Amino acid sequence: MTDALLSLIARRFGTPTYVYDLDVVDAQVGRLRTAFPFAELRYAVKANANGALLQHLVALGVGAEALTEGELERALRAGFQPAHIVLGGPGHTPGLARRAAEAGVGLVSLDSVGAWRVWRETEAPGTRFLVRVNPGFDPHTHEHLATAAATSKFGEPSETALAIAHEVASTGRLAGFHVHAGSMLDEETVADLVVAALEPLYAGFPDADLVDFGGGLAVPHPPLAGFAAAYERFVRRSGKRVLLEPGRFVIAEAGTLLTRVLHVKGGARRHVVADAGMADLLRPALYGAHHPVRLVEGGESDRGGTGPSGGAGGRSGVEPGLPTDVDGPLCENADRLGQDVELPAVAAGDLLAVGTAGAYGFAMASNYAGSLRPAEVVVRAGEARLVRRRERPEDLWRLEEDA
Ligand SMILES: Cc1ncc(COP(=O)(O)O)c(C=O)c1O
Repeated sequence: MTDALLSLIARRFGTPTYVYDLDVVDAQVGRLRTAFPFAELRYAVKANANGALLQHLVALGVGAEALTEGELERALRAGFQPAHIVLGGPGHTPGLARRAAEAGVGLVSLDSVGAWRVWRETEAPGTRFLVRVNPGFDPHTHEHLATAAATSKFGEPSETALAIAHEVASTGRLAGFHVHAGSMLDEETVADLVVAALEPLYAGFPDADLVDFGGGLAVPHPPLAGFAAAYERFVRRSGKRVLLEPGRFVIAEAGTLLTRVLHVKGGARRHVVADAGMADLLRPALYGAHHPVRLVEGGESDRGGTGPSGGAGGRSGVEPGLPTDVDGPLCENADRLGQDVELPAVAAGDLLAVGTAGAYGFAMASNYAGSLRPAEVVVRAGEARLVRRRERPEDLWRLEEDA
């Protein structure tokens, strides 16, 4: 997206605003299909559940991976075929199971013995099951994202997974096994470890025809070739059908968070206080995640002149040479979009673009401290369209009753 288009979007729809470039989504899905021609894609809705994005993915022929009732309903509403939805996640209730079965969800990933107990009691003759395995290795990613770790809550160790699989197979509904090793995976050896954990499990189950390798590809540098080679070797040996559940890879780089500078402060560091922060994009506060931040457009006010807000040290009067934090507007030290950001002189009103923000951005946005969640805009062939309006104060108490 050009800076001119980003400026136009900020003027038209205000800030903070998330912008998603659907042409980039198409390109990312194309990259996946080229790298993994043997696999069926099930987009992980948790990465970004915007309805227009989901509808776009339906049109591209991608399926969905959902984990909660809300995600399941969103996926169904967007038009994903129930047969192409995988219901995963570690917390299945009888209500969720009933709803998924009634909607005709084709595949469920059982995260635990407890999940199988819930599903065993559910009338779901048409549902098939994967058993999620905890492979118990360190996938070398942030500890919050390392779901393959033996200490993580996800999946069951092999012996337990096998015990569940035998019970499921006795009902004739075992589809196969599932590992999601983590997110932001950037080492290709992870795929070898996943295959090594899964392959022996199939020995006793000739009818299990499916394997689900989860999602997790890192951006911006995914180990596509290494993952593809490991999975393809397994497919050649076993002949299984393959599912992948990419989330971040599909939408992260298509997304930009537009935010305007409110104030620039000096001191030990330069603090560029923006109108977006942890309530809009939590990842820097939650994971210390890095997002590129750049200046798109100079603002209308606070330029040049002398005195505390302008003058010799740059347009804001604050040395751009100081180490720079781009902070949010809330009362938390963690409320920031970036630390040690390379930014030229900036002033109030300037427009900043936070990159690689399409995944786990709006999805994790909150109303903390009365924050109003940002607008969402999609761009298709250079045309911008509002697909979710900015929240208004009345949205904050819409669901409440008076005392
Ligand atoms: C089971 C499962 N599948 C897929 C994903 C998507 O991961 P990513 O967005 O890193 O591709 C996740 C993310 O948490 C997950 O838990």
